[in-house]
Amino acid sequence: MASHIRHDSNVITRLNNGHKPNQLGQLAFPADFLWGAASSHFQIEGHPSEIQNRLSDWSHWTTLQGKIRDSTSADQACEFFRLYQSDIEICRQLNLNCFRLSLNWSAFSPHEDARFTEQRETLKHYRELLTYLKEMGFKTFVTLFHFCLPQWLAQKGGWLNEQTLEQFELFSQFAAEEYGDLVDYWLTINEPLVLVYQGYIAGHWPPGHQYDYLNGFTCISQLLKAHSRSYRAIKRTRPQAKIGFAQHWIPFTPKTPWNMGDQLSAHMRNQVFNHLFMQSVQTGSLTMPFPLSISSDLAKLQGPIDNLQDSMDFLGINYYTREFCQMNWSWPFDPFGIRTEHAEFETSALGWETYPQGLYNLLIDSLAPYAKRADGSALDIFITENGHANIHAADLTEGDWSLHDETRVRYLISHLMALHAAIERGVNVKGYLHWSLTDNFEWAEGLQARFGLIRVAYPTQTRTRRSSAGIFAEIAAANSISETMLQLVPPSFKIYNGK
Ligand code: FCB
Repeated sequence: MASHIRHDSNVITRLNNGHKPNQLGQLAFPADFLWGAASSHFQIEGHPSEIQNRLSDWSHWTTLQGKIRDSTSADQACEFFRLYQSDIEICRQLNLNCFRLSLNWSAFSPHEDARFTEQRETLKHYRELLTYLKEMGFKTFVTLFHFCLPQWLAQKGGWLNEQTLEQFELFSQFAAEEYGDLVDYWLTINEPLVLVYQGYIAGHWPPGHQYDYLNGFTCISQLLKAHSRSYRAIKRTRPQAKIGFAQHWIPFTPKTPWNMGDQLSAHMRNQVFNHLFMQSVQTGSLTMPFPLSISSDLAKLQGPIDNLQDSMDFLGINYYTREFCQMNWSWPFDPFGIRTEHAEFETSALGWETYPQGLYNLLIDSLAPYAKRADGSALDIFITENGHANIHAADLTEGDWSLHDETRVRYLISHLMALHAAIERGVNVKGYLHWSLTDNFEWAEGLQARFGLIRVAYPTQTRTRRSSAGIFAEIAAANSISETMLQLVPPSFKIYNGK
């Protein structure tokens, strides 16, 4: 690890080693590159009928004692439902040209007998929102499932119940019919493995199971089926639609490099968290990595999944950080080991290490097998999320707290340097969407974990630009990273590109 860290401060020396600046000393991106921000409905919307009627598993979860670290909820969040026009105007001022959002499935499906088309307020809201984005010249990325299930389906077992798959297929078809003319890129499911991990292993999110491996792996198999059905449903209505899903990718590293237990833990996490879903979509079949395949219960989940193969028109990658893993020698034996707090570089307020090298490595190496179609042609890759959190209490209003967000600035520039280096090496990355435009409700971490380029003072709903927003706006306008910006990044974040 330490071998590629050079402590020289001469930017040009560093660049010559890892990056190719143009004559102006800039790192220029391809002409048609998309610059954007990513979001999800529950985290920003404050959807009136969802919140009043607690329509999703998440709006219930936030009412339970002890589930949200700072005891906040998403009842109001950033009021994007009401304030979307001015937030999109901010995006425009930041020179962005694409935006990612998700549809509130629960608000379209408030109870078992409801019809999507009857939910007039919600129906109209998304037509207006997407129309507005198109009128303002944005490319749109729309996620169909971003962690929130209609409560009535959650009560019947959620993804483990076949009815959820049927409903998701119907919802996907409806969304394609209703909004297909306004959507450039569809994402069926956001981060399937994060949902499984948080919901069935860590228990921090609904349905709140802990170490429930059997249901967790069953859920993976169900989500693969759901993705395949959603993909086909959209294609039936819109054969030209571009459809993918968002894969959260984490480089897993053994805490002690020579320790075989730690190596096994990192290997198992990598196989399941990073590869299992992608591999299944590529091959059309679910195959458990060894030694999980020895378990007869898990082995039963294996096998081909209808219409799954090649249901991916582009790759959507969410990248934040890496994790160091350690084996935990306890009984019953758990090959996944444990996650540690270890880090070698600067960390965010959530303890997430800034590790841009991981983004480069995954684009160059780990993703290569998935980044092409069966006929060998390259798939487009989008970074559908990447971002950095600070922690500031949800009730703050006045003052300059968090506006000079140097750690986010370093994070942003260094990850864009990684992206640029990968593009230089021929990787087909077509766009970058930062998480997120504004501060928002960060699930179990609550409102205090702030991921925004734009600060939100929740009590007043005031938006204020952080330093990082200015930097991002400049990069998007110039379609390049300037030499001055490169100097804001410490040498240790230099990307080692193997040359
Ligand atoms: C990702 C989620 C997104 C957001 C960021 C910080 O895992 O997709 O909703 O919470 O993390």
